[in-house]
Amino acid sequence: MRLLYQFVLKPLLFRLDPEWVHNVFVSVGETFGRYAITRRLVSVVYGYRGRDASVTINGITFRTPVVLAAGFDYNGRLIRILRSVGFGGVEIGSVTARPSAGNPPPRLARMVRSRSLLVNKGLRNDGVKRIIQRLLETPPDPDFIVGVSIARTNDEQSASVEAGIDDYRVSLERLVTAGVGDFYTVNISCPNVHGGESFASPPLLRRLLASLCEVERRRPMYAKMPIDLPDEEFDELVAVVVEFGLEGVVIGNLHKDYDALEFREEVPAEYRGGISGRPCFQRSNQLIRRTREKLGDRLTIIGCGGVLSPQDALEKFRAGADLVQLVTGMIFEGPHLMKGIAHAYAQQRDMTSRRED
Ligand SMILES: Cc1cc2nc3c(=O)[nH]c(=O)nc-3n(C[C@H](O)[C@H](O)[C@H](O)COP(=O)(O)O)c2cc1C
Repeated sequence: MRLLYQFVLKPLLFRLDPEWVHNVFVSVGETFGRYAITRRLVSVVYGYRGRDASVTINGITFRTPVVLAAGFDYNGRLIRILRSVGFGGVEIGSVTARPSAGNPPPRLARMVRSRSLLVNKGLRNDGVKRIIQRLLETPPDPDFIVGVSIARTNDEQSASVEAGIDDYRVSLERLVTAGVGDFYTVNISCPNVHGGESFASPPLLRRLLASLCEVERRRPMYAKMPIDLPDEEFDELVAVVVEFGLEGVVIGNLHKDYDALEFREEVPAEYRGGISGRPCFQRSNQLIRRTREKLGDRLTIIGCGGVLSPQDALEKFRAGADLVQLVTGMIFEGPHLMKGIAHAYAQQRDMTSRRED
């Protein structure tokens, strides 16, 4: 199956427009998710059935230690099928208070040799109301974890700091009231939104979290961190996250530094946006390690960026991550990757505990 994806399916898919392929995959995945028979068939090929690979963080147990990162299932249409391809959970979104068409196309490009995607989606999504309704209508399997990432609507109306904060807060309040979402992630670092200041600065993050923390919630909340700030500025943001008692951080978002690409010349001239995949790997690992060393077990760390193999996932865990997220690895390596990560994780954990015995 791995070879079939690498040598037959991927070369075909990679000739087609990436956003079109994405839309087709989401439609097929949603249809497959509707029926027990198709879920079962997919699971026979890609599901994880090995030794216990579960991870419990902040009271939530993920069946496997790998979660689909925000940006792929941004409208919450795949929650019935993702368990069958080895995921322990998904982060829906980023979801915003009002629907948004996102940035004008082109919004996505592949940089194959650099193993990266150029992303300029601009928070395209159906809006929090519609997405809550969808999630309530199609509940996932009880052991599949669904988190929701929130961001501010990418439009003029939410461009000021005040309106931006209200926008996040509306989404969080609606989710909490509806009882939707096993965890929440505050996306403070979306690199491709027009207008308005970024909340990835300590004073603005403080104002945002002060407002969001007034919302009474019983589920953990994480902050999705930028990875392109200097170390000290990154530390200051983490300190704000700790100050407001959030349960953890996702490290991290897309990279803005095109010099991190192995083949910089692959960047298409007419495109702009953040980059995913391989160029994010080392920097996110450095920041995970740094945060773990500084804070010990005070924060949950979800490692994200450039996981393209089971070994990459293990490196994220060694750096200090409690859980990993990915998007680009699934696209470049295929849907068997998640099962591979779960196997490697379970094996590694068994070896470590045998050594400790
Ligand atoms: C097409 C695409 C859309 C994304 N949209 C979002 C988003 O809406 N919110 C968010 O927090 N991160 C978003 N991301 C960032 C990913 O969640 C992740 O942080 C980043 O891609 C690095 O992980 P990867 O190397 O495994 O892809 C997006 C990434 C991709 C590839």
